[in-house]
Amino acid sequence: MAEHEGLSLGFDPAIPNEARMYDYFMGGKDNFAADREAARLALEVAPELPIICREGRRLLARMVRHLAAAGIRQFIDIGCGLPTQGNVHEVAQAAAPGSRVAYVDNDPVVALHAQALLENDEHTVVVQADMRQPERVLGHQRLGNLIDLDEPVAILIFFTLIMIPTDEEAARIVRGFRDAAAPGSYLAIAHSVSDVKPETTAKLAALYQDGGVVPGVPRRDQIRAKADVERLFDGMSLLDPGVVYLPAWRPDEGERVIDPESVWSVGGVARKER
Ligand SMILES: C[S@@+](CC[C@H](N)C(=O)[O-])C[C@H]1O[C@@H](n2cnc3c(N)ncnc32)[C@H](O)[C@@H]1O
Repeated sequence: MAEHEGLSLGFDPAIPNEARMYDYFMGGKDNFAADREAARLALEVAPELPIICREGRRLLARMVRHLAAAGIRQFIDIGCGLPTQGNVHEVAQAAAPGSRVAYVDNDPVVALHAQALLENDEHTVVVQADMRQPERVLGHQRLGNLIDLDEPVAILIFFTLIMIPTDEEAARIVRGFRDAAAPGSYLAIAHSVSDVKPETTAKLAALYQDGGVVPGVPRRDQIRAKADVERLFDGMSLLDPGVVYLPAWRPDEGERVIDPESVWSVGGVARKER
């Protein structure tokens, strides 16, 4: 497999890939014909996917600004996706100059693009790693050069745990990051849920899995429910208003808020007290 500056370059553009499909939903240009075709199939099932992606990015920005205001200066964006508008380092550094951001994704195209974009930014780093091994992510040398795990950190996992089929494994992953973080750290999660439109989300679950159009994603017949996402924060103190549909999490003053449940995805932030 080809390598570039420690990043694996092995990918096949003929095989649909969720990071590039997500880029397509966001109106990006870093996608191939196979990604667009798979994305179109997903859009037939759920035409609201681009709105959900946009609301997810808006939520990410609100949460990062909140965390910066709470004094956080280090962020780890896990399953960061292809660079888009309102990347974490842009939001964090606008709110608190000098904030440091580590981007983590297991996708080689994501890692390569992000690295190219951030080459000259001494406050960011890109790590190609699999979140299913939290200790390897956090033990990565490049991450360690930038992020001090003895200091509070914000761990952001946006629309990525959805790819982990069992609740046990999702909880294990979250625990791995939480346990390694210093007291005073925060965890932010965004996750689509099955409560509002169970038929739609079951069809999407079938698309995004082995035997569906996106290979490499293990089988799950339905995505998590809101209560399952709430349990991922066990052992931490959830900030108000808890785990809520994306637009309902602390909307900015004057922000136009759409019907929260229309995006059938939730988000929350919790603090590690001890
Ligand atoms: C739907 S995108 C979300 C992108 C971004 N977090 C956002 O909310 O805009 C999910 C991302 O998670 C990455 N991903 C999926 N499984 C992963 C894993 N096991 N480890 C690290 N990244 C993963 C994918 O490559 C993709 O870029």
